[in-house]
Amino acid sequence: MSLNVALLRETFERVKVENGGATALGMAFYKRLFEKYPAVIPLFHTPPEEQHKKLVASLGAIVAGVEQPARLLPYLHAMGIRHLKYKTENAHYGAVGENLLAVLSDHLSKEGQWTEPMQETWEAAIGVVAKTMIEAADNPAAYKEELAETGYEPDGFRKNDKQPWLERSVATV
Ligand code: HEM
Repeated sequence: MSLNVALLRETFERVKVENGGATALGMAFYKRLFEKYPAVIPLFHTPPEEQHKKLVASLGAIVAGVEQPARLLPYLHAMGIRHLKYKTENAHYGAVGENLLAVLSDHLSKEGQWTEPMQETWEAAIGVVAKTMIEAADNPAAYKEELAETGYEPDGFRKNDKQPWLERSVATV
């Protein structure tokens, strides 16, 4: 697997400062997703102006936690299980992953470079994220204990927390 952690972090830092920063990337993500995959439009009820902040925050948590599987895996399992409530299907992960790679490549090639190693490392990272989320969504009961130990309810949400995508422990250690 060609997951290069340093390159993943470096490119994510560039996302925040180049070509309009994370807001531009996030907005481009939903614009392209809805144009290319209109079948997923009805699943979304939060406007892209709000939704993109959650997506970018979750990418930040993933990039920050990539070397801490004990923290990152429960975060991704909970997120996969939450997506059941959003009526996400396993088949959608390919579309979302393809879309994220395309907007990242477009975003970073405007002011700098998008190289083959960047493509490979993001492809690998997105693949692992999707696989981990799907595994949990396919069998939520198997993750009940892990979720409870890490502060999540069986449905992947947290009590009295309206922002479950903020993985505070990943970000602080
Ligand atoms: C790379 C994998 C993915 C990541 C990192 C991700 C990230 C997120 C985040 C952070 C949220 C905010 C709510 C929460 O955390 O529970 C969310 C909500 C949502 N996601 Fe995903 N997601 C992914 C895959 C997908 C896929 C494959 C679909 C299928 C189309 C999807 C559809 C949705 C929908 C419909 C919502 C709720 C939107 C609303 O509130 O109206 N996501 N996602």
